[in-house]
Amino acid sequence: MTLLDVQVRAKRFAGANGKTPVLSEVGFELAAGEVLGLVGASGCGKSTLLRIVAGLDPEFSGEVRLNGRPRQGPDREIGVVFQEPRLFPWLTVAENVGFDLGQGHDEAWVRTLLDQVGLGGLGEALPRQLSGGQAQRAAIARALYTRPRVLLLDEPFSALDAFTRMRLQDLVRDLARAHGTSLLLVTHDIEEAVLLADRVLVLGAAPGRIVREIDVTLHHPRGRGSAEVAALRGQVLRELERAG
Ligand SMILES: Nc1ncnc2c1ncn2[C@@H]1O[C@H](COP(=O)(O)OP(=O)(O)OP(=O)(O)O)[C@@H](O)[C@H]1O
Ligand SMILES: [Mg+2]
Repeated sequence: MTLLDVQVRAKRFAGANGKTPVLSEVGFELAAGEVLGLVGASGCGKSTLLRIVAGLDPEFSGEVRLNGRPRQGPDREIGVVFQEPRLFPWLTVAENVGFDLGQGHDEAWVRTLLDQVGLGGLGEALPRQLSGGQAQRAAIARALYTRPRVLLLDEPFSALDAFTRMRLQDLVRDLARAHGTSLLLVTHDIEEAVLLADRVLVLGAAPGRIVREIDVTLHHPRGRGSAEVAALRGQVLRELERAG
């Protein structure tokens, strides 16, 4: 069943480069529970696309439908995790996770989420007392707080060391399964895309558009460094090279 239907006919920014659209005819669907990877060269429009899907940028031609309904503006059913944690420095970790304008604060749910991301003992800490990986886990818990149907992730692990990154990749995949959440994952790490995604979209640049869609049908858990993962990684890399 289609959960999210994204049809961006064109996206332009005002200014010198306004002539060439940043995105052109980018259309895809996301099914309930599906994990979709999005890869493409730096500057091709991935973050722009994610902001449009998140409802943070209404200035585009096209439509985003959630559960068949046109979506306007940010929606509680869509959670976002950015490259950096973006926690409020003056709030505790627990207050950050449960920060939900006008909706009250469900303490038991905050505790559950903190336990699930491995921050059970750190709810009363302030963000500056966390490591980068801990802060990013808090950001993931915060994004899950509204029980979104879709989680958008924009290079969420790129600032982390390889070991922490692997642990958080597994964590996000497990949490998405447990919560029945669909994922749209932007990443520069092609192995990450192949390890997590059911499908990988390769974007070309100028204008940003989908040049290839690659199905990843390997069973989970997928072996890092396995021959199948390496072969798919090679295929995605070749498509990226071809895309320019
Ligand atoms: N607010 C803005 N005003 C004008 N141009 C912008 C704006 N935001 C992004 N752009 C331009 O749109 C293009 C796409 O940017 P975007 O951030 O979506 O790329 P990206 O694919 O996420 O790149 P990266 O992988 O480096 O994060 C770039 O050429 C960028 O310069
Ligand atoms: Mg980006």
